[in-house]
Amino acid sequence: MPHRWCNSAQIRREQIESGADLTFNEVFKPLLVSRITSLSPSNVLEVGAGTGHISKELFELGFSVTAIEPSAGMYRVAKDVLSLTDVRLLNCTSFDLEKNELYEVAFSHLVAHVVDDLTAFFESVGQHLKASSHFIFSIPHPCFYNEYKGFFGDEYNYMASMIKNVSFTITKDPLNTISGVPYHHRPLSEYINKLVESGFAIDGFDETYPEDDIQLKYGAKWESPRYCVFTCRKL
Ligand SMILES: C[S@@+](CC[C@H](N)C(=O)[O-])C[C@H]1O[C@@H](n2cnc3c(N)ncnc32)[C@H](O)[C@@H]1O
Repeated sequence: MPHRWCNSAQIRREQIESGADLTFNEVFKPLLVSRITSLSPSNVLEVGAGTGHISKELFELGFSVTAIEPSAGMYRVAKDVLSLTDVRLLNCTSFDLEKNELYEVAFSHLVAHVVDDLTAFFESVGQHLKASSHFIFSIPHPCFYNEYKGFFGDEYNYMASMIKNVSFTITKDPLNTISGVPYHHRPLSEYINKLVESGFAIDGFDETYPEDDIQLKYGAKWESPRYCVFTCRKL
């Protein structure tokens, strides 16, 4: 599965570094960094770091960061992006990380909706967290994302889990299509119940809906929150 991200790594880097990816730069990076900063962790694990830009920002803010990324293409780009930092970058999944590695915060940005076994994913992150430590993760908002992207046609049923390989562009870079990447739709109850079964409590839930001045930059108002962020605590 990770190889599916290889081809898009360079495009993603350019979209992030040019500022074309408004959602990454102006919505998620500040939100995730502020949630993590408020917890003052002594170390942080980024799961599925992609191009490494959030880990880089956290390093620049003084955090001790380990980033894991299984896709060879993404890993290569992240290695370059993080070359002037002390971020520890590993080419592996959350399932392969050494058992003795423990963190005070783990986070993943737009990863949980690409994994096939959600319970196993949550458990794999949980086993690398100290007791009472936090796991913060973002996903496309299950209630609204299908309406926004139209990935599923007539077969769409909010209450049914379904997977599709999808292609997408971002608003400010409509010519570069990222294709053949997995997208799991799952109702919110599935996320919540699997978190609870995996030993987490939910401390917070953000529905990402930018301020008007940021929405204006997209050229049109958001009809609904496109993404959401869970803040969970390991019990
Ligand atoms: C949609 S991309 C998001 C990448 C990055 N977080 C970003 O927002 O730009 C999903 C990423 O999750 C990674 N991934 C998938 N399963 C993973 C796992 N079990 N552990 C760590 N990373 C995983 C993939 O290799 C891919 O780079």
